[in-house]
Amino acid sequence: MARTLITGGLVITASDESHVDVLVDGGRVVGLATPDGHAWTADHVIDATGKYVIPGGVDGHTHMEMPFGGTYASDTFETGTRAAAWGGTTTIVDFAIQSKGGSLGEGLDAWHEKADGRCAIDYAFHMIMSDVNESSLREMDGLVSAGVTSFKLFTAYPGVFLSDDGQILRAMQRAGSNGGLIMTHAENGLAIDVLVEQALARGERDPRHHGEVRKALLEAEATHRVIKLSQVAGSPLYVVHVSAQEALAELARARDEGLPVFGETCPQYLFLSTDNLAEPEFEGAKYVCSTPLRPKEHQEALWRGLRTNDLQVVSTDHCPFCFKGQKEMGRGDFSKIPNGMPGVENRMDLLHQAVVDGHISRRRWIEIACAAPARMFGLYPKKGTIAPGADADIVIYDPAAEQTISAETHHMNVDYSAYEGKRVTGRVETVLSRGVPVIDNRAYVGRAGHGAYLPRGTCQYTN
Ligand code: URP
Ligand code: ZN
Ligand code: ZN
Ligand code: ZN
Repeated sequence: MARTLITGGLVITASDESHVDVLVDGGRVVGLATPDGHAWTADHVIDATGKYVIPGGVDGHTHMEMPFGGTYASDTFETGTRAAAWGGTTTIVDFAIQSKGGSLGEGLDAWHEKADGRCAIDYAFHMIMSDVNESSLREMDGLVSAGVTSFKLFTAYPGVFLSDDGQILRAMQRAGSNGGLIMTHAENGLAIDVLVEQALARGERDPRHHGEVRKALLEAEATHRVIKLSQVAGSPLYVVHVSAQEALAELARARDEGLPVFGETCPQYLFLSTDNLAEPEFEGAKYVCSTPLRPKEHQEALWRGLRTNDLQVVSTDHCPFCFKGQKEMGRGDFSKIPNGMPGVENRMDLLHQAVVDGHISRRRWIEIACAAPARMFGLYPKKGTIAPGADADIVIYDPAAEQTISAETHHMNVDYSAYEGKRVTGRVETVLSRGVPVIDNRAYVGRAGHGAYLPRGTCQYTN
């Protein structure tokens, strides 16, 4: 395998920034040294002068080809991982799904069937538990040993994914003893269903009502509940897609008490709001996801949470549905709009824009997008950093390039962009996955099947 030398760039990790050259051999980083401190030769030299050299992004929350709301998320593992690479992400952790009445093992097999041999970048799985029972609880231990070390449980979507509090407690107890990490989708789904029914009866049928019925208080209530359940069980907790400042306040309080409680938010909650859900002509359907977009005031609280480490991770919850034919299923009834938004290609750029806008520092950008998710999901330091021994998942990032986000130019298999027309500063130039170019100077040179499945360790995040 070729030796690659990356010269002249500013290497940024979660803990350091320095002008050093990076030597890659055998798919791994083998050395970092100042330009005058080495005499390395290589088969391939990448001149990164004026550019950032950053770890490939780790997106800890995607749903490729997810069956949901009577249809399937429109990105396959092939198209979705290619788009991820275009956006500077080199690892995804997707959610395998246990079907009701099925086993965890069957769910996992089905996800391997979809993903294996098709990914452009490395991938791993969490497990969605939709049927917590004696047998699936027992199965959790084997999954943890085999590298599927995190389990998502829902207090939302009655009849589909919802687990009751007893089931959640049992899963948390099991995770407390086998080292697994429980992730929760925290919204009070039973209460929301009542509000949905009442809204529809009043003739409130547009996309914006999706945001109105899925109340911030019902996200906060469920967040409070799962925190208390995890405290009783003595297990760590990771709350996915936090969008309400009231829910964030629950996390912050628990962390102040010293509990191992972690939170994730997503670019859509940081950059979009209920104003988007209210776009006329059913355009608001493009922004229907759960938890829902919130009024703009919540954004400042989320940025603050990311700065103070009350939120540790930004993932995308990439779950794309085309406007034509898929989002349209909910015309005249917002409750039938498939929930989910595209974004796997946009996360690194949007968070760099947050650096430009002064919300976060450059190192914090790498922390929340690369290092923290790698630690959280047992992939560090193989992923999430640039250090000797780490996989050479490296992005050459041009911090001065200007671009306009658009469905015309994106690579996700979806007919709209949630950020259409947004100008951002910064762009991915070259992407290496284990030392192999996937994007080379803005050209896709990757291959479906290059991406390897990653069995994971347990959560390494401690503070
Ligand atoms: O709306 C969303 N988030 N769709 C994906 C499924 C989930 O709850 O994460
Ligand atoms: Zn969810
Ligand atoms: Zn999700
Ligand atoms: Zn090259």
